[in-house]
Amino acid sequence: MTTRRLVLTRSAAVIGAASTGLLLPEIVRAQSDKVRVGFMLPYTGTFAQLGVAIENGFRMALNEQGGKLGGREVEFFKVDDESNPAKGIENATRLVQRDKVDVLVGTVHSGVQMGIHKVARDSGVLSLIPNAGVHVATRAQCAPNVFRTSFTNSQPTLALGKAMMERGHKKAVWITWNYAAGDEAFEGFEKSYTEAGGTIIKKLGLPFPNVEFQALLTEIASLNPDAVACFFAGGGAAKFLRDFAAAGLNKNIQLYGSGFLTEGVLDAAGDAANGVLTTMHYSDALDTPRNKKFRLDYAKTFRMQPDVYAVQGYDTGLLLIKGANAVKGDLSNKPALYAAMNGAEIDSPRGKWKMSAAHNPIQDMYLRKVENKENKVIGIAAKAVADPATGCRMG
Ligand code: PHB
Repeated sequence: MTTRRLVLTRSAAVIGAASTGLLLPEIVRAQSDKVRVGFMLPYTGTFAQLGVAIENGFRMALNEQGGKLGGREVEFFKVDDESNPAKGIENATRLVQRDKVDVLVGTVHSGVQMGIHKVARDSGVLSLIPNAGVHVATRAQCAPNVFRTSFTNSQPTLALGKAMMERGHKKAVWITWNYAAGDEAFEGFEKSYTEAGGTIIKKLGLPFPNVEFQALLTEIASLNPDAVACFFAGGGAAKFLRDFAAAGLNKNIQLYGSGFLTEGVLDAAGDAANGVLTTMHYSDALDTPRNKKFRLDYAKTFRMQPDVYAVQGYDTGLLLIKGANAVKGDLSNKPALYAAMNGAEIDSPRGKWKMSAAHNPIQDMYLRKVENKENKVIGIAAKAVADPATGCRMG
């Protein structure tokens, strides 16, 4: 190698090192580079609308801060997880190892969340759960770097049983998709309904994301319960509402659900959703200045109406902003970052809520009724509902 080539090679190496930040002290690099945020959400399939609403809400929270986190610019990376649990680990690994994200925002489906959760626990990357309610993530497998801004799957249904019995519906059939979210929603329903004195006469299920409800609806008709309670969400929920009404079951059987049943689907379900009663930590119709402003801003920005998923995405942004501001953008300062997010109070469109020690919201559950394509609030079904966090030991 000639001297000239050697010099060129050396200076190229120096420039290369400088541009990747290797010559800069760690702290300067942490402050000057962009924060890398990875969205791992469903953008196709039955939960596609949910993923879009979560991303919109998250971006809206950041935009209210001039698009920055703790003073730093933000760069986004995206993966469509297709609500496919089989690809969960691979997709999360891609964001962490290839894209080197500082924060992983995801996801909707509880099975896919388990893949993200493994990667988060193995790598230590900050993991923010904007929807999936799978219990273990904030119970036996809770972790200092994992925060959920949504709910556990049994939180909404823990508020359902009493409301059903108060309306005199003493015999119920339960129906859902057979996977973690449905099974765990049942857990909350079973506890609250039987403790209130109700009897579950049959538990029905079908595989996710199957929407061939006909045979099960025929079975419900022959069982003739006072009420049906369920967990469905997204495109599948809209189809269930339409099929339930088309079979004529809505005429004499009251339909109840974990509130996802009537979120983001009221246009698609039309009259079929009228009169359905649900419990949930949000309602479009919450008559507070905070909710009204949020709804107006969201509708103006995205030209669509927000739902609970948009609120959860927004709150995920609010939580991250709190953390990032506390460490002035240095997300590598993990003890201070987590301390700011742990126990944080979030001024949400759903109402103020507090992050529990297991990193899951402590929140009110509203009883809602669908009227004219809106989830009207009938009352508060349960105040300050906390998940039991069974087996959670942070450390
Ligand atoms: C879940 O899989 O945890 C899940 C999916 C959709 C919802 C709620 C929970 O609306």
